[in-house]
Amino acid sequence: MGWLTACAISVLIAKAMKYADTGSMMSTNSAIQFTGLNAQVNHGCSYLYRPIGVFMTLAERTADITPFYVIQVLKQVDTMERAGHDVIRLFVGEPDFSAPKAILDRAKIALDEQPQGYLSSTGLPELKAKIADRYQRWHGVPVPTERIIVTPGGSTALQLAFLATLNAGDDILLPEPGYPCNANLAAMVNARPVRVNLDPQQQMTLDITALKAAVTERSRALLIASPSNPLGSVQSLDDWQALADFSSTQQLHLFADEIYHGLTFEGLAPTALQATQDAWVIQSFSKFYGMTGWRLGWLICPEYAIDACERIAQNLYLSSTAISQYAALAAFEPEVEAECFARRDELKARRDYLLTALPEIGLQVMASPDGAFYLYVDVSPYSQDALTFCEQCLAQTGVALTPGIDFGGPCPNTSVRLAYTVEVGRLKEAVGRLAVFLQSVQ
Ligand SMILES: Cc1ncc(COP(=O)(O)O)c(C=O)c1O
Repeated sequence: MGWLTACAISVLIAKAMKYADTGSMMSTNSAIQFTGLNAQVNHGCSYLYRPIGVFMTLAERTADITPFYVIQVLKQVDTMERAGHDVIRLFVGEPDFSAPKAILDRAKIALDEQPQGYLSSTGLPELKAKIADRYQRWHGVPVPTERIIVTPGGSTALQLAFLATLNAGDDILLPEPGYPCNANLAAMVNARPVRVNLDPQQQMTLDITALKAAVTERSRALLIASPSNPLGSVQSLDDWQALADFSSTQQLHLFADEIYHGLTFEGLAPTALQATQDAWVIQSFSKFYGMTGWRLGWLICPEYAIDACERIAQNLYLSSTAISQYAALAAFEPEVEAECFARRDELKARRDYLLTALPEIGLQVMASPDGAFYLYVDVSPYSQDALTFCEQCLAQTGVALTPGIDFGGPCPNTSVRLAYTVEVGRLKEAVGRLAVFLQSVQ
C-alpha cells in the first residue's frame, strides 16, 4: 500500500470515527468499508451499501419509513400454508374479486390491436372523459378532464399530490388510525406527518376541534380518507363541508382519498368535490373494479395546480401503463358497473353478518363501517399487545388478522383490522375459530 493510499484511508477512518462519535453528523444508516477492513456504524437500521473504499450514507429519510407489521403476519401465513394448514386470510387489503371479465377481454384486445408504448403523462383522453362522466353520473359534479391526471395507482396519486404541495418541514395533518403509507409518503418529501388521534369514545369520528388543536404555522395540508382504511367509516356531505370550511380557513390543502368509493353500503358516498372544487381527490381502480395489480388510479387536482401536476407526472412516471388504461375503458360500461355494485352488495352481506356475529363472541367493532371491506375491532379485553394477539390467533386458529399497530391512532396495541375478503361461509368458520381462541386467552 503506498503512503498516499494509507493517508487517505486514515483520513477516512478518522472521519468515520468522528461521525460515529458525534452521531449528529452521521446519517442513521451509515457504513464504511475498506479493503481488508470493515467498520460499520449503524443506528437502528440495517441498510448497508458501500463499494470498497468509499464512505456511503443513505438519506436520513429512510430511517423514518416504517415497515408494515402485517408482513410479519404474511410470513407466518406463508409458512403455515406451506405446511398444509387451512388459513382464513382476513388480513389483506384486497378484495377477493378480480377485474370483471369485460375488463380482461378489453385488455386482450388492446394487446392485439393497440401499441403498448408511452401514452400522454396525464392519461388516455378517452379514459379521462369516462372518469369525468362518472363524476357527473354518480355525484352530479362537473370535472374538467384537464384536472384529471391518470396515475399508476392511488399510491402515485398521493405521491403526486404531496410533491405538488408540500415543502420540506411542512406539516400534514393525518387523522389516525389511518392508511400507514400516508405518513411514509409525507416523509419522502421531507414533510412532517402530524397524527391526530380519533376518539374511541366518539366511535372514531372526526372532530374538527381536535384538528384545529393540531394546526401550527407549518400546517399545509389535511388528508381524509372516505371510506377509511382501517375503519370503513364514510364522511357525509355535511362532514365534507365542515372539513372544506376548516381547510379553507386554515389555508390547508384538502386531500380526499376516495379510493374505496363505490364500495359503500348506504348509497353512494359524497365526493369532497361536492363540498369544494379546491379539494384534491385521490382515486384508484384497485378496489371497486378489483384491479389492484393493474396499478391504475387518478388524481383530480385544483385548476391552479394542473400545470405543475402535469410537469411532475411527466418526470415521475412518464405514463401510466398502457394496457391497464385501455382495459379500464371497459370499467365504465353499465354492465361492468352493475357487476361491481353486485360485489358491493356481497360485501355488505358479509359486513352485516359480522356486525351481528362478532359482538356475540365478545368482539366490539370500534367505528361505523359503512364502506370499504374492513372492521376495526377492539381486542382490549383479551390483550394489550395486538401484534402478539394476531400471531397467537393465527398460530392457534389459522385466522389471519392485521394488528392495529400498522394504523397508528389512540389504541394501536389493543385493536385489529379484519378484512372481510372471504365469502360468508368462510367468515362463519373464522368466527367459530375466533370464539374458541378468545376463550383460551380470557
Ligand atoms: C386508503 C388507501 N389509500 C391508498 C391506497 C393505495 O392503493 P392503490 O395504490 O392500489 O390504488 C390504499 C391501498 O390499500 C388505501 O387503503
